[in-house]
Amino acid sequence: MITIESARVRFASTEGGAPMVALADVSLTIARGEFLCILGPSGCGKTTLLKAMMGLVPLDSGQIRIGSHAVTGPGADRAMVFQNYALLPWADVTANIAFGLELRGASREECARQAAHWIKAVGLGGFEHHLPRQLSGGMQQRVGLARALAVEPEILLMDEPFGAVDAQTRRLLQEDLLDLMQRSGKTVVFVTHSMEEAVLLGDRVALMSPRPGRVREVIEVGLTRPRTASVEREPRFTELKEYLWERLRAMRDEAADA
Ligand SMILES: Nc1ncnc2c1ncn2[C@@H]1O[C@H](COP(=O)(O)OP(=O)(O)O)[C@@H](O)[C@H]1O
Ligand SMILES: [Mg+2]
Repeated sequence: MITIESARVRFASTEGGAPMVALADVSLTIARGEFLCILGPSGCGKTTLLKAMMGLVPLDSGQIRIGSHAVTGPGADRAMVFQNYALLPWADVTANIAFGLELRGASREECARQAAHWIKAVGLGGFEHHLPRQLSGGMQQRVGLARALAVEPEILLMDEPFGAVDAQTRRLLQEDLLDLMQRSGKTVVFVTHSMEEAVLLGDRVALMSPRPGRVREVIEVGLTRPRTASVEREPRFTELKEYLWERLRAMRDEAADA
């Protein structure tokens, strides 16, 4: 279980003015094996919250715990998939996927074995020795996903991983992720600004609002799994999407009034 208790993060302002509050008093618990989506407009602190869970951004106050352990930095129990892929440009697909394992001191054989396994799992067979720049955006994101999964984390933190790819590719990646995760029992925290994506993937959706970043509401999705494309034809899917849209629009009106 991940427990976030009154997490607060401020960033120093560049002009020497008052610090900006990126996260104000965020509390949230995420069950083991849950798929939680975090949805909210740009600038509401989604990336900051994910980085705080990863241990890359320190809290000003509050606490984040994994089980009974307070997060004080990155750890082998967590892996992150970044929005902009963050691949090593000079390393081929195999080396990029093995990178995290190498850092953790895995043997050469273990790295090669795991890389081969995950290349197959994410559908990149035949591209083992391609460099990132020789791959499409969708393929690069598959490498990012495989790199994160290769270290076998209990918790996968994904920051708008499919934000930069075209609609068809996004669809395929979503289906593959559902397929991989439905069998894994991993805990996933998935940041998105897409209402459809949040409802399609999540067990729950945490809705955030900006200035300062807060979790406004947590919504139970309640659609059955395994989820396939047909889930989008269920009335519950449309109902949830419309509800989320109303809530996001209300936030925008609040911001305009402020
Ligand atoms: N390293 C940083 N230094 C200063 N301000 C930052 C930093 N990272 C994020 N911020 C600010 O904190 C707020 C939340 O950012 P972020 O977590 O990236 O939002 P989101 O991912 O929801 O778009 C934004 O106003 C952003 O400009
Ligand atoms: Mg972000």
